[in-house]
Amino acid sequence: MRAPLRSHSALHIKMLSEYLSAFLSIVFSIPSLVIIFLVIVIRIAVSTAWYKKFFAKMESKSVQLMKGIMAPLKQKIFVELGQHLKEVEGDVLEIGIGAGENFDLYPEATSLIAVDSNPHVEELLMENLKKAGERVHLKKFMLASAEDMSCSLGKPGVEDNSVAAVVCTMVLCSLTDEQTMKTLAEVKRVLMPGGRFFFLEHVAGKPWTLRYFTQHLLTRLLIFPTFLNGCRCNKETLTRIREAGFKTVQAEKQWVKGSSEAFLGSWDTVLLARSLLALINPVIAGFAEK
Ligand SMILES: C[S@@+](CC[C@H](N)C(=O)[O-])C[C@H]1O[C@@H](n2cnc3c(N)ncnc32)[C@H](O)[C@@H]1O
Repeated sequence: MRAPLRSHSALHIKMLSEYLSAFLSIVFSIPSLVIIFLVIVIRIAVSTAWYKKFFAKMESKSVQLMKGIMAPLKQKIFVELGQHLKEVEGDVLEIGIGAGENFDLYPEATSLIAVDSNPHVEELLMENLKKAGERVHLKKFMLASAEDMSCSLGKPGVEDNSVAAVVCTMVLCSLTDEQTMKTLAEVKRVLMPGGRFFFLEHVAGKPWTLRYFTQHLLTRLLIFPTFLNGCRCNKETLTRIREAGFKTVQAEKQWVKGSSEAFLGSWDTVLLARSLLALINPVIAGFAEK
């Protein structure tokens, strides 16, 4: 008499576990499907002019949002740039200049050459140039990739040994290791002997930590680069700079922390920026001399 009862309850348990596993697979697969869908759509859209224009504005906004957080490190490298220019006179080249968010940090009357690969930054750059007044004299804006700034085939470029300093803030994270090495070779080519390469970049965290694994996972699954215009949060940029063959490299690695007041934006963007900060830490800042 008891056997049918037991098989009845066994059937209930089986059905319940099937419902549960179906429910869990829906809950966990819908967000994954949405992410996969968005990754595919954005990767298709990435080469369109609309996307580049959108990102020129977005990047300018995100740099402004993080301005307060990065300010102490940025100010330090720009003070060092000012001291350097007193000893080695000449033009400064900024690669990946974006909207020119660094203009207000340059020493007074800096003669600047600007390079960016996104044509849509030029309009924003010119607006900020007006605000910078006498601080920056923009000699030329070149639409070029930092991996090749040569003057070949009549195209305007940057001459060998021609600039006193190169500035690069939050740009190398968008490049692959191969592109980074090409860019560093270009930086060395254009710097005059004794010229300095000033950099500020976010890099991968301490190996084998949860942060390090998350940075690698989000980058390798293309999630981070897709949503942040090619940005990778797992780069070992300081190692690449040390490998590039500069005479000296002086850099510090810092954990940038952000109180809510340090972010300049509305609460939702601040929330997004605070979550991002966990992934774009630590930050390296310093210079390399040719
Ligand atoms: C995150 S924004 C940083 C802008 C600026 N350096 C700053 O700190 O405010 C990165 C900029 O690098 C530019 N960029 C990305 N890859 C580049 C490349 N290969 N050559 C030149 N510019 C590049 C992007 O178009 C963008 O304007």
